[in-house]
Amino acid sequence: MPVSWPLVRIELDHVTRRFGGDRAAIDDLSLEIQDGRLCVLLGPSGCGKSTTLRCIAGLEAIDAGTIRFAGRVMNDVDPRARDVAFVFQNYALYPHMTVEENIAFPLRMRGLRRGARQQRVREVAAELGLGDLLGRRPRHLSGGQQQRVALARALVREPKAFLFDEPLSNLDARLRVELRGTIQALHRRLGTTMLYVTHDQAEAMVLGERIAVLDRGRLQQYGTPAEIYARPANLFVAGFLGSPPMNLLRVVARGGRARCLGIEVAVPRREGELVLGLRPQDLVLGGEGLRVRAAVLAVEALGHETLARVQCGSETVVAWARGHAPGLAGHEAGFAFAAESLHAFDPVTGLRLDGDRV
Ligand SMILES: Nc1ncnc2c1ncn2[C@@H]1O[C@H](COP(=O)(O)OP(=O)(O)OP(=O)(O)O)[C@@H](O)[C@H]1O
Ligand SMILES: [Mg+2]
Repeated sequence: MPVSWPLVRIELDHVTRRFGGDRAAIDDLSLEIQDGRLCVLLGPSGCGKSTTLRCIAGLEAIDAGTIRFAGRVMNDVDPRARDVAFVFQNYALYPHMTVEENIAFPLRMRGLRRGARQQRVREVAAELGLGDLLGRRPRHLSGGQQQRVALARALVREPKAFLFDEPLSNLDARLRVELRGTIQALHRRLGTTMLYVTHDQAEAMVLGERIAVLDRGRLQQYGTPAEIYARPANLFVAGFLGSPPMNLLRVVARGGRARCLGIEVAVPRREGELVLGLRPQDLVLGGEGLRVRAAVLAVEALGHETLARVQCGSETVVAWARGHAPGLAGHEAGFAFAAESLHAFDPVTGLRLDGDRV
């Protein structure tokens, strides 16, 4: 198949969309998805992910701001002329058509002749492992196969960009991982701009070259998965990315120092309250660094790792142990963390304090 697809940069410039009510569904959102990038839009239910995609596709009007493709203003351009393919959570296949007819549908609409159509459909079907299913109807396919057909139907169009709205959330865990791999492989081969919506932080970390974190219609942070994980910009992002979520401890600084799990550490504020964040994976059983003793209240032993809910003084936090250790529960044990693994936030604004380290 040809690989010379056009690349397109998608820009949102102070975009707002209201549906009435006091809060905008998307609120002054500025975001640039560089050409050829796979960008993930991540956030909880209702934060405006689907609305953002629909605005980009032209299915939803915007109240303020500008949307551009490759520098060209799209605000008043008809959805069809925008030439982006949309893949939904519910596969939206035509039930009375075969797999082949479903995939060929966009090409038929475009008036491509039969021979060319068939060839193109077969190529795409083979790529997505649908070669043997072309004669079937959607109701005789599994969920994973149906979503592959929906992907194929988007792919044959050779669109300028792909918009995915939680396309894998109806599938079981194994199929999700498998189709995630398929989407990654497609992106590597085509290099087409993709915007992928999910509320699943693990999916975002794995798939995204860039992640845009949204909350209540507002952009919280935009960066590579590594940046967002290592330096969450605020308490919302800190709590949303990572599993289990980061431990957040309210402390009081005196003279630039505060007590964290009973240990005095330097903090990026001289006096007053702040919130310290420590990922469970950074508080390690028998680890090196600043040592704390804690009572293990409960554990989740998962085979390769064990998550332990521990009490340290008046604080209860989640800590981490290598391997399968169900026997830890009910005992005292030694855990350790490095001062550099602490994150610090302002308790009022929620914003990250300082930069590189506490
Ligand atoms: N057509 C509509 N009319 C009124 N309100 C709407 C409409 N579409 C979306 N909203 C509201 O806009 C907000 C954002 O909705 P949106 O569907 O974009 O969220 P989402 O992030 O995709 O959520 P989910 O993860 O549940 O799909 C919500 O508060 C929703 O109720
Ligand atoms: Mg949605």
